[in-house]
Amino acid sequence: MPIAKPYVGLSAEEAAALIPHGALVAVGGFTPAGAPKAVPRALASRARSLHEAGHEFQIRLLSGASTGAACDDELGRAEAVSWRAPYITSAPMRELANTGRLDFVDMHLSHVSQVVLEGFLGPVDFAIVEATEITSDGRVYLTTGIGNAPTFLQCAERVIVELNAHHSTRLREMADIIVLPPPPHRVPISMRDPLDRIGRPYAEVDPEKVIGVVFTSEPDGGRGFTTPDETSRRIADHVVEFFLREIHARRIPAHFLPLQSGVGNVCNAVLAGIAAHPEFPRFKVYTEVLQDAMLDLIASGAAVGASASSLSLSEEKLKFLYEHFSDFADRIILRPQEISNNPGVARQLGVIATNTAIEVDLYGHVNSTHFFGTQLMNGLGGSGDFERNAYLSIFMCPSTAKGGRISTIVPMCSHVDHNEHSVQVVVTEQGLADLRGLAPLARARRIIATCAHPAYRDVLSRYLENAPMGHIRHDLRNCFAMHLNYLEHGAMVSDLDVSQFEPPSTRGSS
Ligand code: COA
Repeated sequence: MPIAKPYVGLSAEEAAALIPHGALVAVGGFTPAGAPKAVPRALASRARSLHEAGHEFQIRLLSGASTGAACDDELGRAEAVSWRAPYITSAPMRELANTGRLDFVDMHLSHVSQVVLEGFLGPVDFAIVEATEITSDGRVYLTTGIGNAPTFLQCAERVIVELNAHHSTRLREMADIIVLPPPPHRVPISMRDPLDRIGRPYAEVDPEKVIGVVFTSEPDGGRGFTTPDETSRRIADHVVEFFLREIHARRIPAHFLPLQSGVGNVCNAVLAGIAAHPEFPRFKVYTEVLQDAMLDLIASGAAVGASASSLSLSEEKLKFLYEHFSDFADRIILRPQEISNNPGVARQLGVIATNTAIEVDLYGHVNSTHFFGTQLMNGLGGSGDFERNAYLSIFMCPSTAKGGRISTIVPMCSHVDHNEHSVQVVVTEQGLADLRGLAPLARARRIIATCAHPAYRDVLSRYLENAPMGHIRHDLRNCFAMHLNYLEHGAMVSDLDVSQFEPPSTRGSS
């Protein structure tokens, strides 16, 4: 591939060698899609060598969302990162965060660009982005994930571009990029429909800042999903039936509203359930990651099209997309995450948000991020961007985890990411609790009766009915008794008969 003037070609190792200890490094992409690969991998290797030689070397790492194995996993294993934001799914990074060896800042994904532009995190020393082309006048055509790359390119003092030949140069036909100026210069985001275009097909950079271009040819390494299990299918059935009831009651328009779908197998099962239902209207999607199941819906015509920030597809599906690009080019739009996850746009379009919870409490507070209040799973991601501002805010999860020994319905969440005011509907494989218009006690009774596993209904009801009276009933001495029981005795209630938790009502393994 010829290199446009005035840029210089570098090897990944040469590029990594330019990044000093302590630098704030911002990477493009969103999930493994579009995240740089070669330079972070080389940086991890450099960190290992420096550590072996007794030198200090750690960077601060900012991204769009999670990244790929070549970035977070490699840098995490090399202990090459001292500070990380805004989201991770990498096991090595999680381990560092949970053992006090990494400062991890869990952020709403729509906030990152604004925080960077405000200068709150200090100067961004380096941006590393993946592109299919950079022109001599500084147009950067990004690959499969947009994320915060346009903002990082604008703010960073030095820029390294990985030009990845693995990806189709036609991806630019899906890109729709703007960088919102900070207040008071912000203008309204002019979007009435998920498929409206408001930007340009490229991000921009001052060519003077580009210190090197690294040539690569490497897939994102995205993984597909397993076929939904029976628990996920049951959750999906409740959700699809609910949507159809709401359409018949005219509380959702006949042509539906833009759907946001979170990460994980349950969300994919809901999409599959929608696709399989003959009565479901053709709908549009306004979400952050476009995953395999969504591409199938667009390909089959069940979905009209989708707005997202990345194509987080398995290699097989990405190949399919590239082979049939013209069929998708005007039906998929890839935006910076400040727009894909914009709370104002979610409210304006009337997005229906569906995300997964770790635990839900009796009043509808949701924990999406921490086990037992302390152990980080992934982070908040975009769930808050959408759920807080949606037309309908739905959280789903299996009613139990760890072979039934954990109830995901608990008296009080051990950590709260979404409070009762942002949660309207809770769904488990047991049933769907529509909490709209219910006062706290009625919410609690409905959640217990509808969503809790039968093995936990009595203990939850006893907790509620014995708690001191108040607008919200809680017994502060006992609200974490179920959590403590699990930590001390391996199950949330004593004498639990685990044989009753035959599939489909279990999730996870011990
Ligand atoms: N207590 C302890 N462990 C629990 C648990 C609970 N209440 N609920 C689940 N787990 C465990 C499971 O057993 C499993 O562990 P294992 O891998 O050792 O078996 C693990 O957590 C993951 O559970 P799983 O059912 O596979 O989760 P998932 O893939 O549906 O993901 C979230 C659920 C909440 C972790 C995931 O959706 C997430 O990270 N959400 C936050 C970000 C987000 O919502 N992004 C989308 C925004 S658009």
